[in-house]
Amino acid sequence: MIGDPVYARRFAADHAHVVGDLPLWRALAAAHGGPVLDLGAAVGRVAIPLAEDGHEVWALDGDPNMLAELAQRAAIAPEVAGRIRTIPADIRDFDLGVRFPLAICAMNTLQVLLDVDDQLACLRAVAAHLAPGGAFWFDVAMPDVGEIAASLGLIRDEGRNVDAETGMTRWHRSWFRGYDAIDGTAEYTHEVQDVAPDGTLTIHRQDHTVHLYQPPELLHLLARAGLRVVDRFGDFQRTPLDLGASHQVVCCEVDA
Ligand SMILES: C[S@@+](CC[C@H](N)C(=O)[O-])C[C@H]1O[C@@H](n2cnc3c(N)ncnc32)[C@H](O)[C@@H]1O
Repeated sequence: MIGDPVYARRFAADHAHVVGDLPLWRALAAAHGGPVLDLGAAVGRVAIPLAEDGHEVWALDGDPNMLAELAQRAAIAPEVAGRIRTIPADIRDFDLGVRFPLAICAMNTLQVLLDVDDQLACLRAVAAHLAPGGAFWFDVAMPDVGEIAASLGLIRDEGRNVDAETGMTRWHRSWFRGYDAIDGTAEYTHEVQDVAPDGTLTIHRQDHTVHLYQPPELLHLLARAGLRVVDRFGDFQRTPLDLGASHQVVCCEVDA
């Protein structure tokens, strides 16, 4: 789980363009109030905007390098940094002694938990940290396992973005390398081709293994953890979840 400072910096650059979900997290924090528990907060892609909006955020991650990068990025505005508490901890085993009106787990982070015991441990820990009436929101991918299994090795164009600071064009590509139907896991590679303004090309690759949650499986898992699903959506604009959805955006509460 523990990476290194270079990986954390790279993670920040590779995901800086991912902003489509931020209006949802901001609206939820405005509706529920803080403090907000951000599970798997990484470099603060979500925590920093929430703190900019004035919310106290507890940013929990198992990789101290990610949290160091978060702290460095937040330090640009001392009032923002002052609202973020970084917590080096395991999302499967934490006890913060605080209950939150809102807990979130953004950008497919629950998919890093590959087996049922780890998933349940995390969800039970979240449930134990929700205040009365509090909500846990997260997003995971909506998997199309048939399409994944049939397309192993095929390169997907995930789009390009230009880094405002460096002028670097980043071309994101990915491909699935394996799919295990028994475990419900997929292996994929995320490649970023950086093209500098002078045309120099650098290629970065990162391999990942993730769990693919089927919608009914999630309902059972959450119920076992004492969480009741209040709403499910297919995107960050709260479109109803259907077969064409790319995401599962889930809102749950502690089951009374
Ligand atoms: C997909 S990234 C998180 C992205 C972040 N939520 C966002 O929206 O930008 C997954 C994060 O989970 C962290 N992580 C993975 N396994 C963990 C665990 N068992 N406990 C705590 N953090 C973990 C990694 O260090 C990484 O920062």
